[in-house]
Amino acid sequence: MQHSEQTALIARALALIRSGSSERGDPASSPVQRYLDPSRYEREMDGIFREYPLALCPSISLANRGDSLAIDVAGVPLLLVRGEGGQINGFINACRHRGTRLQTAGQLNQRAFVCPYHSWTYGLDGALRGRPHGDDFPQAPAADCALIRVPTAEALGFVWAIPRAVKPDEASQFDIYSYLGRFGADLRNWGYDGWVPFHQREFANAANWKIPFEGNLETYHFQYAHKNSIASLFYDNLLMADHEGPHHRIFLPKRSIETLTEQPQSAWQVGPHSNIIYFFFPATFILHEGDHANVFTVLPEGVGNSRVLGVTLIPEMPKTEKSINYWRKNVASFWGALDEDFALGVSSQSTMASGANTELHFGATEWCSAKFHADVEARIGRSFD
Ligand code: FES
Ligand SMILES: [Fe+2]
Repeated sequence: MQHSEQTALIARALALIRSGSSERGDPASSPVQRYLDPSRYEREMDGIFREYPLALCPSISLANRGDSLAIDVAGVPLLLVRGEGGQINGFINACRHRGTRLQTAGQLNQRAFVCPYHSWTYGLDGALRGRPHGDDFPQAPAADCALIRVPTAEALGFVWAIPRAVKPDEASQFDIYSYLGRFGADLRNWGYDGWVPFHQREFANAANWKIPFEGNLETYHFQYAHKNSIASLFYDNLLMADHEGPHHRIFLPKRSIETLTEQPQSAWQVGPHSNIIYFFFPATFILHEGDHANVFTVLPEGVGNSRVLGVTLIPEMPKTEKSINYWRKNVASFWGALDEDFALGVSSQSTMASGANTELHFGATEWCSAKFHADVEARIGRSFD
């Protein structure tokens, strides 16, 4: 981020702190059917998850040619691999013979994909390289039996993919930086392309995929939900946000930011005095914490369930016990607070069908959560009201 933009954000925050206020937007309501209706869920899969990319794993997890990952994303089994030329190739993880998954887990340094059923064998580029008794398939020439590609990209230290087959005439590698826009440029300038994962976790979340983002695009809850964890670091109900299309950048000043008033603007840095949320639609959340980042992607797994992939990115792997402990403390602090958020989201989901509410409400400082829903609505056709 340019220094001029950092000073502008800090000045904006200090003005809000002086007046004890927050930026505010339009309040909105959210019908509970958004979290319960299976047909609406299918429209979300078609209109959103088949159209927009998700960060799925750290680039370094697929460091070498032939390193692969098998992962189900929004109902589509994917197989991602580092190809011969160093690029990421993405495929639907389904054999072209009779559909068996080629593998159920990732592997390192593999030279080919061999189907466990009848041994059809594919190169890292997806081409069918061999099959027993190939002459018995005159109706399915080998050239027509390559694995089906999915759109993939690499950026900000992550492999990204869209879980669907590439369309006719669509390139299998897409321009992720144009999708991530100026917020992606922010992160690239912080050096994310070279950052590495210090910690990863994955867990089931018994809530609709949208619920974790509602909770993480507002600060109204900090003083209550996080009273025993991070609340004291931040201001109550202060939210400052910028948007580019459906992406959000939310600036969260820490109380230490007020010490900057004693320093010249030329010395101002957002790093130690704020966290910055970068939310890339539809489901990738990056919390920039100055010298590292905590990232999670939410994968929908049915209308009331999702799976969370979490990664802590740091500039380089630690070499001393002291720095390992420093990063461990950061990871524990992040997941301590996030576990509080996820648990409250699961609690909300559990009452959706109870009849207590026909709709939920976002106040004026929760307007980013409301905007997120509006961006979802705009992509699935009619609003479910
Ligand atoms: S299903 Fe894969 S080789 Fe038969
Ligand atoms: Fe929270």
